[in-house]
Amino acid sequence: MASVLVTGGAGFIGTHLCNHLHNKGYHVISLDIQQSDDNPWEVVVADVRDYLQIDGIDSIVHLAAQVSVAQSMEDPDYTLSVNVDGTSSVLAAAESSGVKRVLFASSAAVYGDADEMPITEKSPLIPQSPYAVSKIVGEELCRQSPIETCALRFFNVYGPGQSSSGGYSAVIPAFKKAIAAGMPPTVFGDGTQIRDFIHVSDLVRTIEIALSSKVIPEEVNLASGESTSLIDLLKALEKHHPDMANPLFEDERAGDIHTSIADVTLMNEVFSPGEMITLEEGIN
Ligand code: UD1
Repeated sequence: MASVLVTGGAGFIGTHLCNHLHNKGYHVISLDIQQSDDNPWEVVVADVRDYLQIDGIDSIVHLAAQVSVAQSMEDPDYTLSVNVDGTSSVLAAAESSGVKRVLFASSAAVYGDADEMPITEKSPLIPQSPYAVSKIVGEELCRQSPIETCALRFFNVYGPGQSSSGGYSAVIPAFKKAIAAGMPPTVFGDGTQIRDFIHVSDLVRTIEIALSSKVIPEEVNLASGESTSLIDLLKALEKHHPDMANPLFEDERAGDIHTSIADVTLMNEVFSPGEMITLEEGIN
C-alpha cells in the first residue's frame, strides 16, 4: 500500500486524516511540530520549515499551517513564515525524494468576498488577510513545482477534536464551548455572515480519493455546497440546547469574509465523494 506523509498530522484535520488513511491500509507518517497521542502510525516531530529529509514516500498531504485568519491579522510574519516557507520546504523535500503527488491544504479564504455565489475555482482571488495571501502563495509554489500537485481549497471544516481553546478557535467549537459553560456565544459582527461547513469525516474521505484519483485538477473546492449563516448555526445549536444564553454581539473581525459558499461541481465530477453529513447531524 502507498506511503503518505501528512504534515500537521497531530492537528485537528491531520489526526482524522492519519486515522482514516491508516484504517484504509496506507502506510502513514505524521509530521508535526507537536507530539501527538499514542497512535499506530509513524510520527516525526519537526517544524515544516526545517530541512526535511524524507525517503520512500509516495504522496504528501500538506496540512501544517497557521490556520486562523484573525491570528494572521495580528501576526502576519508568523503566518507567512509557517505557511509560505513551510510549503516551500515541503515541496523541496518532495522534489528531492521522488514524491509523486502533493495535495496542498488551501482555503476558501483565497477568494475573499467574491461577487458571485456559489464560488467556482475560476472565481478571482481577492485576498483579504495575510492568511489568504499565504495560501495563494502556497498554491503558486505548488503550480511551479515539477511534481503533480493539487490545491484543495477547504471551506469551513468542523467536527470532533477541533480545538476550542485560545482566542482563535473556529466558530463551531467556540460556540459549543460557551454553551457548555452556560456562557453567551460571542458573535463577531451581526451574525449574517455565511459559511459553507464541511464535516471533517467527509473531508478526509475526499482527500483519500484525491490521493489515488487518476484525474487531479490544479485546484478544487472541498465543501458541502450548503450555506449557513451564523444566526442559522445558533438556531441549530439552540434546538439541542434550548436554555442556551443569548449571543453577545461584538465588532466584526478585521480580515473576515462575509459570504463564502462553494460550487462543488468540480469536486463531485473528479472525486465523487458521495453524500455529505448535514450540519444538523454533524454539530451534535
Ligand atoms: C476558517 C478556518 C480557516 C479556513 C477557512 C476556510 C479556522 C480557525 N479557520 O476560517 O483555516 O481556511 O475557514 O473557509 O478553522 N466567529 C464568531 N465567533 C467566534 C468565532 C468566529 O462570530 O467565536 C465568526 C468569525 O468572525 C467569522 C465566522 O465566525 O465570521 C467563521 O470564523 P472561523 O470559524 O474563525 O473561520 P474562518 O475565518 O471562516
